[in-house]
Amino acid sequence: MFVPRILNPPDMPILEGSVGVEDLVLLEPLDEDSLIKNLKLRYENKEIYTYIGNVVISVNPYQPLPIYGPEFIAKYQDYTFYELKPHIYALANVAYQSLRDRDRDQCILITGESGAGKTEASKLVMSYVAAVCGKGEQVNSVKEQLLQSNPVLEAFGNAKTIRNDNSSRFGKYMDIEFDFKGSPLGGVITNCMCPLPCSSPACQLCPPLLICFSRQRLPQPLGTTGAQGRIRAMCQVVSWTLMRVFLHTFPDLLEKSRVVKQLKGERNFHIFYQLLAGADAQLLRALKLEQDASNYAYLNREVSRVLGMDDASNFRAVQSAMSVIGFSEDEIRQVLQVTALVLKLGNVELADEFQANGTPASGIRDGRGIREIGEMMGLSSVELERALCSRTMETAKEKVVTGLSVMQAQYARDALAKNVYSRLFDWIVGRINESIKVDTGEKKKVMGVLDIYGFEILEDNSFEQFVINYCNEKLQQVFIELTLKEEQEEYKREGIPWTKVEYFDNGIICNLIEQNQRGILAMLDEECLRPGVVSDSTFLAKLNQLFSKHSHYESRVTQNAQRQYDHTMGLSCFRICHYAGKVTYNVMGFIDKNNDLLFRDLSQAMWKAQHPLLRSLFPEGNPKEASLKRPPTAGTQFKNSVAILMKNLYSKNPNYIRCIKPNNQQQKGKFSSELAVVQARYLGLLENVRVRRAGYAYRQVYKPFLERYRLLSRSTWPHWNGGDREGVEKVLESVSVSSEELAYGKTKIFIRSPKTLFYLEEQRRLRLQQLATLIQKVYRGWRCRTHYQQMRKSQILISAWFRGNKQKRHYEKMKASAMLIQAFVRGWKARKNYRKYFRSGAALTLANFIYASIAQKFLLDLKKNLPSTKVLDNTWPAAPYKCFNSANQELQRLFYQWKCKKFRDQLSPRQVQMLREKLCASELLKGKKASYPQSVPIPFRGDYIGLQGNPKLQKLKGKEEGPVLVADTVKKVNRGNGKTSARILLLTKRHMILTDAKKSQAQIVIGLENVAGVSVTSLQDGLFGLHLSEMSSADSKGDILLISDHVVELLTKMYQAVLDATQKQLSVAVTENFSVKFKESNVAVKVVQGPGGSGNSKLVCKKKGSHSMEVTVR
Ligand SMILES: Nc1ncnc2c1ncn2[C@@H]1O[C@H](COP(=O)(O)OP(=O)(O)O)[C@@H](O)[C@H]1O
Ligand SMILES: [Mg+2]
Repeated sequence: MFVPRILNPPDMPILEGSVGVEDLVLLEPLDEDSLIKNLKLRYENKEIYTYIGNVVISVNPYQPLPIYGPEFIAKYQDYTFYELKPHIYALANVAYQSLRDRDRDQCILITGESGAGKTEASKLVMSYVAAVCGKGEQVNSVKEQLLQSNPVLEAFGNAKTIRNDNSSRFGKYMDIEFDFKGSPLGGVITNCMCPLPCSSPACQLCPPLLICFSRQRLPQPLGTTGAQGRIRAMCQVVSWTLMRVFLHTFPDLLEKSRVVKQLKGERNFHIFYQLLAGADAQLLRALKLEQDASNYAYLNREVSRVLGMDDASNFRAVQSAMSVIGFSEDEIRQVLQVTALVLKLGNVELADEFQANGTPASGIRDGRGIREIGEMMGLSSVELERALCSRTMETAKEKVVTGLSVMQAQYARDALAKNVYSRLFDWIVGRINESIKVDTGEKKKVMGVLDIYGFEILEDNSFEQFVINYCNEKLQQVFIELTLKEEQEEYKREGIPWTKVEYFDNGIICNLIEQNQRGILAMLDEECLRPGVVSDSTFLAKLNQLFSKHSHYESRVTQNAQRQYDHTMGLSCFRICHYAGKVTYNVMGFIDKNNDLLFRDLSQAMWKAQHPLLRSLFPEGNPKEASLKRPPTAGTQFKNSVAILMKNLYSKNPNYIRCIKPNNQQQKGKFSSELAVVQARYLGLLENVRVRRAGYAYRQVYKPFLERYRLLSRSTWPHWNGGDREGVEKVLESVSVSSEELAYGKTKIFIRSPKTLFYLEEQRRLRLQQLATLIQKVYRGWRCRTHYQQMRKSQILISAWFRGNKQKRHYEKMKASAMLIQAFVRGWKARKNYRKYFRSGAALTLANFIYASIAQKFLLDLKKNLPSTKVLDNTWPAAPYKCFNSANQELQRLFYQWKCKKFRDQLSPRQVQMLREKLCASELLKGKKASYPQSVPIPFRGDYIGLQGNPKLQKLKGKEEGPVLVADTVKKVNRGNGKTSARILLLTKRHMILTDAKKSQAQIVIGLENVAGVSVTSLQDGLFGLHLSEMSSADSKGDILLISDHVVELLTKMYQAVLDATQKQLSVAVTENFSVKFKESNVAVKVVQGPGGSGNSKLVCKKKGSHSMEVTVR
């Protein structure tokens, strides 16, 4: 979407701020005076460019101005014609854009006097085109070559004249060819194309007529960079790429006479001076030249230097430019050789020689010069001399050689020099064209740039000036035809009422010069070809006769009497009233110059030369190619060239740069109004402005006009089915343009003032904005709607998904919850059922398990830490937990028992017996008797009296079988007094025997069945009472009190023996008070612990009365 550019560019001057008027159409009052004043004012403010519509008027500043270069090119490229200050770049841009966008060949016609700045302008155009057109490797090289061709052409074709230090002495027309590159992107290009297929060159886009009344920025009127141009650019990528440059020079337009002769204050072509000044010693030697220019006859001795021009460095620039263009080293060398040859030819001096027959003849005076030339040419000097000094006349039958007079020989020499040089120049041009040429055979577009020398009025005008001015006359005609005449004729054609603007139509002058058979050139040719005596005077006479009544021809002898007294006109002169002023020509030399004869001997000699370049310049010298036919005269050639040029120009869309020279001194800042007014007059500037102003500023064929503006009316927009003209009428009605402003032609609409067009453009711009806004609105609405719908769809989709997803998740969650609840319920139910099992069992299992593992651990630890197996070691580790206490005790007990069992198992039967006895002793007395503990560790010996070795004692036992259980010495307490006496006691299995040691007979034998009981004390003592049963017959004395040291052993064994014998347990009473039966009376025994009762006790028995006995233990 675009909106036409409407903003002022920041640097666009407003009308008030501009110096004078930038476009002369705005001039007020419109007269010559104010026109010149305006130009002057602008010039003095360094505004050298001014417009008349699309025509650029350029006043030579004679100083470099800071308004050129890439920066400015870029600026002008971006803006349309009237948006920036007038400039050649603006014109070049319009031409280039019209070529690019409208597919029209263009030509840029640069006219003006010599020194007015044409060549500079053409260079600006070329540099602009080179900068803006397409890029690429090949293109860049073409551009480079295009730009580099200038220094070469200028070196060979420019010279210092009195009017211009760097005056082009040849006509140059350059075709810059573009190749169409780019491909259509869309399929509707035709619809998008600019609707203005305009046939007339004058009424194309008509940018000239879009005069800036206001300095407001305008959209490009049509096509190019305007709205449609942009639309079109959108549809199509179009670019024209610089393909090649084709230089046309006019062969006969190089002012070759300059090679041999220059006017006062002028120079020969630059290259001669450049060569001498710039060549190093080696090159000079090779070319057989000397540095001093004054040594050369062809170089004007007065001026060999031009102020501000460095010939030497220019020479180097030329050399490098030639290599850039593509000249080979060898070619450059040959070109310089030929140039040197021309210089040296001028130094060939000719002298009179007299022949035998008296006819004048000539010869060469200085042999060295001609020899050197011969060497350089590769031609013998004799042959060269012959060619210069004689002439071969050929008829059908014979060949006659005649000598030439010195004059004729000099003429021949100069003719040779001129020819060599001009042909060299042509060759260079051809060579440049050849190297720039890239023929793709594709469709091409051409932009022609014409820089041809300007109108010249010198003091002494000759044939050269005549043809130059003729050419300018023709160019003026193009201008008139294409701008003034065409414009006015168009009104007529279109049936528009029109008051003719008077302007000078130079057709009559052109006819005077060029008319077939009757024009001056035709007369000149006729005179040249005519047999008989021909001279310049006969030619003049003929002209005088023929044109005596012609309004633009004057001479001394024409009927106009006053000429007779005009001293500015010599006898040999005629005068033509050119469009640019009257010019008096001297006919002297016209015939010769028109003939431009190079004697065949010379061209043949040149062809014979070994020098390849020189030889190639004279193809007609080849005898095989020789023809007797006269070559066309210079005038005819020139006329033909001009005709071709005109045809070329008419086929293209013209763009004008009209150069004005502000002063004759080439001084900056100086504006000579007199000089300018003459130029403005002959350039027809005022007429130009008048036609522009009086006419209609704008015209357009109905159809494209309607296309462009139909959007302004509701009846034509968006659809219109009627005719184009009616449509246009409707449009213009709807924008209420006053009828005076309009004229309806047969095929075109005419709009008088640019203001109206601006108004239309402005309306269109506003309308476009409206439409753009509308389109934007609709588009935005559509975009928002679709966006919204899309969003809505997306939203619905998203929410559907979201809801679905949410529900799905919700369901999943519910499902999971239900399952969970189910599981819980089921679990709860199951648990409820199994709770009792579950809980008690689990606890038990757990407890069991824990207990088992603790127990296991406990047992394993115990296993590791078992105490020693010694029976007496009663240590045992404590239980880790209280609960194991009983088990631990049990284990301790078991262990102990096991230990004891082990211990017991290892005992011998005797030890077992002994322990049994000890056990028995303990059962009987342990804890009861004080002496018991002492008895424990002492084994029971049984025999304390050595029974084994005492047979006497053994006899005491009588016949009783079995061992003696105890044999010991005891004390027997006397029943009567309590005294003790020793006895031996023997205990057998059935009896207890007491006897006196000295006696061998048993005193008392007691059967064990008679022992009723035993009483012992709890004390240390060994006293015990042996209670006998009443029916004992053995001793009726009663119970017995005995004291034994081994009371424990004795009682134990007795007990056992009683048990064994009677199966009755012997009662053993431990008491301190017991009674014994002595002889039928009971005696109470009372045992008392006396003082110091320890160790072996000592008993003291005292009978106290008959019934008590007190025993004191000490
Ligand atoms: N635009 C310009 N800016 C600066 N100097 C210029 C300009 N145009 C012309 N000149 C000066 O004027 C001289 C003559 O210009 P030139 O183009 O050779 O004239 P012409 O080709 O019309 O004979 C140039 O050498 C240059 O010094
Ligand atoms: Mg020039």
